Amino acid sequence: MPTADLTQSVWDLDTDEFPSTGDIEEQATFLLRYAILAPSSHNSQPWEFRVTGNEIDVGADESRWLEAADPEKRELYISVGCALENLCIAAEHFGFDPQIAYHGPNNADYVATVTLLDDAEVSTSRPSELFGALTTRYTSHEPFENRLLGDGIYEKLKALVVEDDVSLHLVDNSDIKTAISELQVEADRLLMEDPAYRKELGHWIGLGALGSSWLMARIGQAVVTHLDIGDREAKKNSTLIESAPVLGVLTAASDDSTAQVRTGQAFERVALLATTDGVAVHPMSQTLERPELRARLGELLDTAGVPQHLFRLGYTDEAAEHTPRWPLETFLDDE
Ligand SMILES: Cc1cc2nc3c(=O)[nH]c(=O)nc-3n(C[C@H](O)[C@H](O)[C@H](O)COP(=O)(O)O)c2cc1C
Repeated sequence: MPTADLTQSVWDLDTDEFPSTGDIEEQATFLLRYAILAPSSHNSQPWEFRVTGNEIDVGADESRWLEAADPEKRELYISVGCALENLCIAAEHFGFDPQIAYHGPNNADYVATVTLLDDAEVSTSRPSELFGALTTRYTSHEPFENRLLGDGIYEKLKALVVEDDVSLHLVDNSDIKTAISELQVEADRLLMEDPAYRKELGHWIGLGALGSSWLMARIGQAVVTHLDIGDREAKKNSTLIESAPVLGVLTAASDDSTAQVRTGQAFERVALLATTDGVAVHPMSQTLERPELRARLGELLDTAGVPQHLFRLGYTDEAAEHTPRWPLETFLDDE
């Protein structure tokens, strides 16, 4: 676990500070300041980076892996994929053409390497407005207003998923939403019965990673660690699902780390575009954390793809609040 303090100051980024006259390693390191604003499960920030010339290795740091909630490491790799996508969006904004090489499931060190090429004719799949949302995106936890998403948003979101092995399902059918909320209830009960799951969640709440004040964080940790609060969570979360006009589910053709990294990239683009359209986003992973419920989710969606990530989309007038991050140096492997 990092020894540095979590801080909000990472969100104060100024594009004018880009070291345009600096060397490529300085520039690459600057881009990583945007990568670490990515969402991650329990805000565990499980990424690591190594900059060598114009190459940036992107990896998963398993010291921040959520062993109890995420035994299959699905959320670990999705989170790393989100950071990878932020990096590429920032790279394009500052005039690079980022080329990604995936290293496949068997590479223990890094999941991908991004090579920053000089922008020749960048044919990008990334809309330029995503960049501005890197510093405004946040995860909502409130019930959403009872209104549908605006015209054309479904098409815009679907067009963002350019990975040929990843698909976005947008569920607004109330019967299927109800069935998914029933899976959520089962998931919350099962997970909250598990002391290891509660202990791990309590640990991250106690660190303040989930954004509460110090005092609230300690109380939250004590409650989660010592009480079985499954019923309360189940009730709250099923209401959140039912109140959402749309649920998004990303599925992938396979279930390995590369597919999960690519799912994370697609999710991050969806979350950022939703942000630019005033649509709030809330991942809800509990159903996917139990293999039997994850399989039932796949059946409900009637898809051959493997469900990888589930989230709510909708409108809220809550004030956006950022969660803290560790400073960038925490994540740099400078060996
Ligand atoms: C793979 C993944 C799974 C997540 N699962 C949940 C979840 O089950 N419930 C939840 O409230 N937030 C979930 N989140 C959101 C994180 O809690 C959130 O990204 C993190 O606390 C950082 O806050 P921010 O997104 O506001 O920057 C998930 C995020 C990711 C990337």
